[in-house]
Parts: sequence; structure tokens; C-alpha cells
Amino acid sequence: MSTFPATRLRRLRQADWSRRLVQENVLTVNDLIWAVVVSDTADPTEPVAAMPGVERLGLKALADAARRAEQLGIPAMAIFPHIDPAKKDADGSEALNPEGLVPQAIKTIKDAAPNVGVICDVALDPFTTHGHDGVMKDGIILNDETVNRLTRQALIQAQAGCDVIAPSDMMDGRIGAIREALEMEGFTDTMILSYAAKYASGFYGPYREAIGSGAVLQGDKKTYQMDPANTEEALREVAMDLEEGADMVMVKPGLPYLDIVRRISETFGVPTFAFQVSGEYAMIQAAAANGWIDGDRVMMESLMAFKRAGAAGIITYFAPKAAEILT
Ligand code: PBG
Repeated sequence: MSTFPATRLRRLRQADWSRRLVQENVLTVNDLIWAVVVSDTADPTEPVAAMPGVERLGLKALADAARRAEQLGIPAMAIFPHIDPAKKDADGSEALNPEGLVPQAIKTIKDAAPNVGVICDVALDPFTTHGHDGVMKDGIILNDETVNRLTRQALIQAQAGCDVIAPSDMMDGRIGAIREALEMEGFTDTMILSYAAKYASGFYGPYREAIGSGAVLQGDKKTYQMDPANTEEALREVAMDLEEGADMVMVKPGLPYLDIVRRISETFGVPTFAFQVSGEYAMIQAAAANGWIDGDRVMMESLMAFKRAGAAGIITYFAPKAAEILT
């Protein structure tokens, strides 16, 4: 047991060089996945009121963003679509349009910046009139019918050149169904990043405005997303998704769920990502805009917290801002 005064922990903290020397965790640009909102109505961009600093990008602006990501060394971008409300229907059919916004966005990024990885959300909520992630019948979200559609959605994304399929819907069995379809269609190298532990969270609020599903969402998502009170269930979700063929897993939201990130990364030893979601972003930006906190400092501290918890990387709207500080 080290005791005072033989041990004075402050000795190592006294200078910048010694603090750097004994630093336990590092955050680099390689840890960042840039969450971008792409829109078929934005020309070139539209602001998202609840997320100051985030804009919906038209395809030209997306190409510019992709080039910026490549220059900054950001490894990958995650695409979230905002589609013209006129294209929405109850089944989210537009999700299955091979010429739709997401396939176009994938090609746009690949053309502009071939070395930037492309990650696509698999879920129906940007495309449905009721704002749910699946097919709804008599107020119930149907699991197997939804999995069917998600599998087709994932194949369309893979065909368009998506590198990483990221199902964010929380239906049971979707990872297995998608993996099987990818194998059968020859997409043996397409990765799956499963939103394995995704909670029914109030922190997604601003995202609903970003993708235009807020005004329409009927009810809540508690029959498919997890109860914020649960941990053991998160481990079961992850175990099943890995068994079904996920290459990487994600915890969402991020900062309020760092205990889950730690448990999962330690238990499974697989690449575990965390999503610093829209509400987490908005809270930091709002407090910074009021002069209540130092925004850049809190941003970097929050990103380091993910690394400390064992995350392999972070999906964040802050990616370009953080990358500029890191490079
Ligand atoms: C939809 C989806 C959501 C987010 C990513 N994919 C919202 C939800 O599940 O209700 C949230 C992202 C964010 O808040 O930044 N499947």
C-alpha cells in the first residue's frame, strides 16, 4: 500500500511533460466517426435549430464534407437521411428505393473521398409517416415483417457501396437475417456495426427535428428500444448480435451510458462504439452558447471519457470540430 508522504500523486502531475508521459488514454482523429444528416430538400444546406452548428447537407455539400473528412483524417462518416415528407408512407417504402437519397449519398461520398468509410443506419423511421423504426399494424411494431424490410434496405445500401451496415432499429433477429442475405448476395466483406444496446431515450430529441420525424412520431419506442434501467439485458443483446454476425457493436446514447460501454468492452473484447447522440451534442452547444461552459474543452473532455470507458471510437456530430483540434 502506498502511503503519504512516500507517495505523493501530485509529483507526476506537476509539469506538462510528466502529465503527458503518464497519460493513460489517448484520443486521436482515428477514434471519430462523423455523423452527418443528408437531405433531399437542402440546397446546399439547411440549419437544424436544435443542433447549432449542424446542418442538413444536400448532395453537393455532402461531397464537400467528405473531402473535408478525408483531409482531416476522419476515418468514416455515418449517414442519416432527411427525406421530403411527400415521399413518406406507412411502410417506409422509400427506404427500399435503390435510387433513393441514401444510395445517392453513399455514391457521393465514395466519389468525393474514396478512402472515407461509409456507415449507413438501417431503420425505417426517416421514411415512415408514423416515425417508427418498423412496420406498424394496429399500433404494434411488427418484428418479422420489419426484419424482412430491413434486410432489403441493407442489401440496397451494400449494393450502393456502403462499407458498414448499422441497424439501429432494435428488432430481434435482424443481424442474423442481414448477415445471411449479405453472404448469399456475395457481400462477404460488408461489415455490420450493430446498435446492440440502444435505449429508449429522451436524448434523441433533436435528431427527430434533424431527420424530420419529430412532428409525426406516434407514441414512443419502448416496445423495441431498451429500458434505461437495464444492464444485463444489454449484455444479452450484444451476445446475440455477435452470434448472429455483427463485427462491431454500439451503445447508444453515449455519455449517460458509459457504464454499459465499459461492461460490454470488457465482457466481449470486441470493437465497441458509442454514439454521442443529438441531445448530448445540443446540451453542450447550448451551455457553450450561453457562456456557461467552455464548449471546446467540454467537447474534448466528453470524447476522452468514451475512450476511458473502453470505446473503440465515437460517433459524433462534433467530429470535424474535434479533428481540427486534434490535428
Ligand atoms: C433511428 C435512429 C435514431 C437515432 C439514430 N438512428 C433515433 C431513434 O432511435 O429514435 C438517434 C441519433 C441521435 O439522436 O443523434 N433508428
